[in-house]
Amino acid sequence: MVTPTTAPELAEPHLRGLLASIGLDVEYVRGSGDTLYYRDTDGAEIPVLDLVGGYGSLVFGHNHPRLVERARELLEQQVPVHAQFSYHPYANELAHELNTVLRRELGVDEPYHALFGNSGAEAVEIAMKHAELDRVVRVGALRARVAETWAAVQASAPAVPADVTERLELPDTATLDDVVAAAARLNEESFTRAPVFLALEGGFHGKLAGSVQLTHNPGYRMPFSALAAQARFVPAAPGATAAAADAERAEVIVPEVVDGVLRLTVERSPVVAALFVEPVQGEGGIRVLDRTVAAEIRSVADEAGFPVVVDEVQSGMGRTGRFFAAAHSGLAGDYVLLAKGIGGGVAKSSVTLIRGSRYQGDFELVHSSTFAKDAFSVHIGLEVLRMLEEDGGAAYARAAERGAALRAELEAVRAEFPDVVSDVRGEGLMLGVEFADLTASPDPVLAENAAHGLIGYVLAGHLLRRHAVRVFPTASAPHTLRAEPSIYLTDEAITQFGSALRELCGLLRKEDGAALLPV
Ligand code: F0G
Repeated sequence: MVTPTTAPELAEPHLRGLLASIGLDVEYVRGSGDTLYYRDTDGAEIPVLDLVGGYGSLVFGHNHPRLVERARELLEQQVPVHAQFSYHPYANELAHELNTVLRRELGVDEPYHALFGNSGAEAVEIAMKHAELDRVVRVGALRARVAETWAAVQASAPAVPADVTERLELPDTATLDDVVAAAARLNEESFTRAPVFLALEGGFHGKLAGSVQLTHNPGYRMPFSALAAQARFVPAAPGATAAAADAERAEVIVPEVVDGVLRLTVERSPVVAALFVEPVQGEGGIRVLDRTVAAEIRSVADEAGFPVVVDEVQSGMGRTGRFFAAAHSGLAGDYVLLAKGIGGGVAKSSVTLIRGSRYQGDFELVHSSTFAKDAFSVHIGLEVLRMLEEDGGAAYARAAERGAALRAELEAVRAEFPDVVSDVRGEGLMLGVEFADLTASPDPVLAENAAHGLIGYVLAGHLLRRHAVRVFPTASAPHTLRAEPSIYLTDEAITQFGSALRELCGLLRKEDGAALLPV
């Protein structure tokens, strides 16, 4: 046996080196609520206030006793964790519970079907695959209908006027058969257009081969751009979605006969497979979707006929004060994605909800995973839902109240250090603190780390070592620290974070970069 201290690092050694260089290579040995514990050299447990909260997956904190008890119960009862290709009534129960919440918060009036997976990225890829299957089916139906219409028109032998041959760039001597063939060629170009996914700038939807194409950060996406269908990125600004949908417009030529003469009309052929949107961008730096943009996304999608996928992987499960963060802007997706929080911090699972009228049942026969819809994760998901929904939704009220308390503290810090903290934003317990740009700082530590996108990690390293507060920026928003604690966040924890930030802001105001580095 090699001992951990002498063995070379084989498990992601590069990351370990990076974490060590900024003092983040701590091994946590226990987690409870919003506290993680590591051991000092004497073996004593040292508590750390964890505001990272599993990047938003710990709505009830680490190892909530009720969820741990439920997990223990399930294992003691010998629930068959893996019983694929059999009936899972508990999965149906979870789907019904989620539908109840969808109806209440988003006013949807038709059932949504549930497809189960393992992670956030898998929920995204299930949505991508299903949306593409649905698009292919719709293209197929359109192709058949257009072909039938052309055949009927051809059989009725209408006159071919000059504007028709001109439009198809045919000589005016062209026959009806020539016209039919030319239109069929052009239509085929539209029918065979590669699918396009629309996604918002700054968005994050995972890092698997398909989902990474929807993740805006080029560092994550570009090396793998040849692996799958590409996204067109849309600014989260008024007018942008309509412009993007227009730019991807494809049409097919459909004939009609008026008074024995051939006329051409056009119909839209589906190219956009889906538009992906987070109600609150998480990895993108805690950006709440604008209500006007949300309404425009819904109306453009309805007009163009493509579905909206609302990615609630991070924002969902209650942390914003509603079960679905989209409830704040009223954006009812055709697909709604959940992961992270539905595992209650002790299981890994995801659910892709799909509006009944868009649902392709055949998808179930072509997509599966060994681990999806396993009894353990689904039962934990049901328990999490009960904990959120019971007592008249007290958990949502608590998320909103704790979020407001945390936000007030962050706003107070900003008021004291307006030159250092440039923004505080978010919804409920999904909050971001943005620091002013430090790339032009005279302090080389601050300027260089800011230029390399590492400044947030340097700030996080300092908060951890000096104040025992764990908080992170993201690669896509390196100046923004995000806080996504549990709904049990205490007043003491808020004060601890506030004091830690004040000390940090003092150092930044003095431009004392050296004080932020590990000794
Ligand atoms: N969608 C959203 C909105 C996410 O925030 C994430 C992950 C995913 C999908 C992918 O989920 O990691 O389970 O495959 N976000 C993390 C973050 C990693 O940094 O915010 P996953």
